[in-house]
Parts: sequence; structure tokens; C-alpha cells
Amino acid sequence: MNKDLAYISYCSQAHLPSGQTDLDRILDVSQRNNQRDQITGLLTYSGEVFVQFLEGPPQALHRLMSRLRGDPRHRNIIILSEGVAHERMLAGWDMELVTRQEAHLALREALGEAGDYAKVIALSSLLAKLDPDLHRGG
Ligand SMILES: Cc1cc2nc3c(=O)[nH]c(=O)nc-3n(C[C@H](O)[C@H](O)[C@H](O)COP(=O)(O)O)c2cc1C
Repeated sequence: MNKDLAYISYCSQAHLPSGQTDLDRILDVSQRNNQRDQITGLLTYSGEVFVQFLEGPPQALHRLMSRLRGDPRHRNIIILSEGVAHERMLAGWDMELVTRQEAHLALREALGEAGDYAKVIALSSLLAKLDPDLHRGG
């Protein structure tokens, strides 16, 4: 078990005046920084709303959240879930932009492999927030 691992998920209201260009810049910087900071995760973008899931060393996550809170490309950050992680759910994902459905599938897969109760709870609550309809249906 890795004692120095935390996770956090949030949603926010996107504000991307330059659309795809803004999104590409966010992903470039995120992939570079996250590799450096040992952060992995995923980002979904609906055109209006971001949902991001992040996991990594608590200090690095804390610093990233401060940068995110000061980023004008989104507003009204709402934390969906956070806690201590026992193992990485998305090892190798330095920051992937995925559809909600893809995010849902990845998290469901992680849920299927989840070995401990805390992880099951974290994943279940994230899944429910990511897509309540799909979650009820599946
Ligand atoms: C929705 C969204 C998600 C982001 N995700 C990350 C991320 O995972 N990692 C990261 O380093 N920056 C991310 N950023 C960018 C940060 O807010 C910030 O601009 C960046 O970390 C600054 O990096 P720099 O100091 O290397 O320029 C994200 C920004 C937005 C709007």
C-alpha cells in the first residue's frame, strides 16, 4: 500500500474563449507537469463543464489545486470527492482528455479491480457524479 497517495475530483464551469486551442494548451502543460509531479488522472469536457480526476502525492496535488483555483479558464470549482488512495487507479495516464463515457468505463474497470472498501466507495461516488444515468443503468 502506498501511504503517500491522495486523490481528488472536482467539476468546474469551463471558460475557454479560444476553444480547442485553449484545451490543447491545457493538455500540453498538464501532461508535462503531471509527469514531473507524479500526478495521473483524467479530464472530461462537455463544452461547458469540466470534470477532472487527479491522483498523486498529497503535496503535489495540493499545489496543483492552488494553480487550478487561480486559472481563469474555468470557474466555480466544486470538489466532488477527495481522500487517501491506496493505489493508483489510472497509472500511466498523465492527463487524458476522455469522453464521459470513456471516463465512466475506465472507472468502472477500476471499480471491478478495486481491492479495498475505501477505493470502492471513492470510485462509486465519482461514477455517480460523472454520469448518474449511466451509473443507474449499468
Ligand atoms: C480544466 C483544467 C485542468 C487542468 N489540469 C491540469 C493538470 O492536470 N496539471 C497541471 O499541471 N495543470 C493543469 N491545468 C493548468 C493549471 O491550471 C495551470 O495553468 C498550470 O498548471 C500552470 O503550469 P505552469 O506553471 O507550468 O505554466 C489545468 C487547467 C484547467 C483549466
